[in-house]
Amino acid sequence: MCGIIGYSGSFCAQKILLDGLEQLEYRGYDSAGMALQKSNGELFLRKKAGRVSVLREACEGAPINSVCGIGHTRWATHGGVNDVNAHPHNCGKVTLIHNGIIENYHEITAAFGFAGRLHSETDTEVAACLLDYLYQGDPFEALRQAVDILTGSYAFCILFADQPGRIFCIRNVSPLVAAHNDSGSFVASDLTALIAYGKSYFVVPEETVMTLSPEGISIRDLSGQPVEPEILTVDWNVESARKGGYPHYMIKEINEQPEALQNTVLPRLKDGLPDFTDEGIPDTLFASCDNITVIACGTAMYAGMVGKAVMEQAFKIPVSVHIASEFRYDTPLISSRTLTIVISQSGETIDTLAALRLAKACSSRTLAIVNVKGSAIARESDYVLYTHAGPEIAVASTKAYTVQLAVLYLIACRFSLLRGCFTADQGRKFIAALLSSSGAMEQMIRHDQAIREAVKTVKRSDHAFFIGRGLDYAFSLEGALKLKEISYIHAEAYAAGELKHGTIALIEERTPVVALATQEKIFAKTISNVREVRARGAAVILIVKEGAQVDPDIYDIRIDLPVSQDEFAVFPAAVSLQLLAYYTSDAKGLNVDKPRNLAKSVTVE
Ligand code: M6R
Repeated sequence: MCGIIGYSGSFCAQKILLDGLEQLEYRGYDSAGMALQKSNGELFLRKKAGRVSVLREACEGAPINSVCGIGHTRWATHGGVNDVNAHPHNCGKVTLIHNGIIENYHEITAAFGFAGRLHSETDTEVAACLLDYLYQGDPFEALRQAVDILTGSYAFCILFADQPGRIFCIRNVSPLVAAHNDSGSFVASDLTALIAYGKSYFVVPEETVMTLSPEGISIRDLSGQPVEPEILTVDWNVESARKGGYPHYMIKEINEQPEALQNTVLPRLKDGLPDFTDEGIPDTLFASCDNITVIACGTAMYAGMVGKAVMEQAFKIPVSVHIASEFRYDTPLISSRTLTIVISQSGETIDTLAALRLAKACSSRTLAIVNVKGSAIARESDYVLYTHAGPEIAVASTKAYTVQLAVLYLIACRFSLLRGCFTADQGRKFIAALLSSSGAMEQMIRHDQAIREAVKTVKRSDHAFFIGRGLDYAFSLEGALKLKEISYIHAEAYAAGELKHGTIALIEERTPVVALATQEKIFAKTISNVREVRARGAAVILIVKEGAQVDPDIYDIRIDLPVSQDEFAVFPAAVSLQLLAYYTSDAKGLNVDKPRNLAKSVTVE
């Protein structure tokens, strides 16, 4: 949470920071601010509650001629949303921006007597005071000492009044990437802010002090030794992080799913079957485990629920799915015979990272499914399978979900082959069906009339229910999450057979019920549950496979999925549920890409 950018070079820093903050706004949009430093050390601080556009307006009216500065977009944790709590924060010679949480800021305030110096309610301002207190003309030394005092997660970019043109950075857990090229030196919380300036970058190593200047970037570990970071190459282009003619990122990303699925699956096939050896993942990892634990948050966790259903069915070993924020404080029943799969689009969700560390401490082998290269979760897990979705900017996750599923299906296939549950021929058929899901998603995107019709029913209501059994239940969870997070309609996903044990009391005349009935084995059972809600007045939106025979009296709207095999229904179904949420939010005039109270990456507990 919170977007960070810093620049030191020879071009207009104000422009670079404002453009970068716009790219980073999905990390938090409570306030935005920047500090620009002139070559004589003079500092200009601008910060405003609200969107980056508010800051841009304030800055462009009175531009500052500077080639060095830091900028921040905030997701509020400590203190309300107002100008004073916005970053940067200044104390004496120190001006800084921060992503993360300083857990011991109360103790530091008391121990160093900072109370009288603070203007804001933020933990960040306390860190600025601490650094100013420790600073005796040597930024490295002040930072080295601060690291011993601060607890929590942080990525700081710091300007010192008497060090013009230089930005000092330090991080613990919270992400920072950096790059130097002909335009100067750049640092940011994520790559989307940097890709306009070049293809090479590196992940700033933890426990190092990094210094940016127009001439280059230097890094030293805390004992003062130089550190050479590993240079990586971005495989996204600038356009992939722009809207590209779409009204919102979310609809662009929904449209990108067919291609993202192909990009994720095809490079991993050998002779039509999945093979992960090029990614350094040995078959012994799969062959030698007795059970699988999947850990994630939100959408990624719901992808895990689908993965569980598919994996248990395919190779018949127990798979359990855990909410990371719960798992991390549990006493998990896992061992060296457990394969822990952690799933995260950003690779920086703090609860998922903590759960990964706990799984490793329990001797479990760990495999991460991650979208962002070089992210903390990718680096810390024993093995990583990247999803190749490209940047996902909309806060509501769409393409990350379907490619996470694709990787879980690949794993299911590889496991099944190794454990003798699939012949090579069966494996090839499974993979062919997976690849054809790309076409099914495409068709769903092109033929969305029924979904648009369903929006008219859903948008009028304050509540909606999603029901299904088995796999249908697993993907209805994600459908309900999508609807509530961007349309603010209370939506609940329920196992269809469980409804009459209480929840059916909430069904009233015209309550929207999105019923998924795509699974042959339990089709008739789900349809019975649909009749039960219909009898109580529900407005039923029924999602079934094309050709399914259903009495038209039991639904208001029918959405047909172009798919034949049950286990692949999730791909077009996911698209239909995403579009339902998207069009509903848009029809209500809401901010689809930046729903209230949310941010893209959840880096606080
Ligand atoms: O980056 P991660 O996949 O770890 O994020 C986990 C959740 O915060 C995320 O999936 C969230 O639920 C979605 N943005 C919802 O659409």
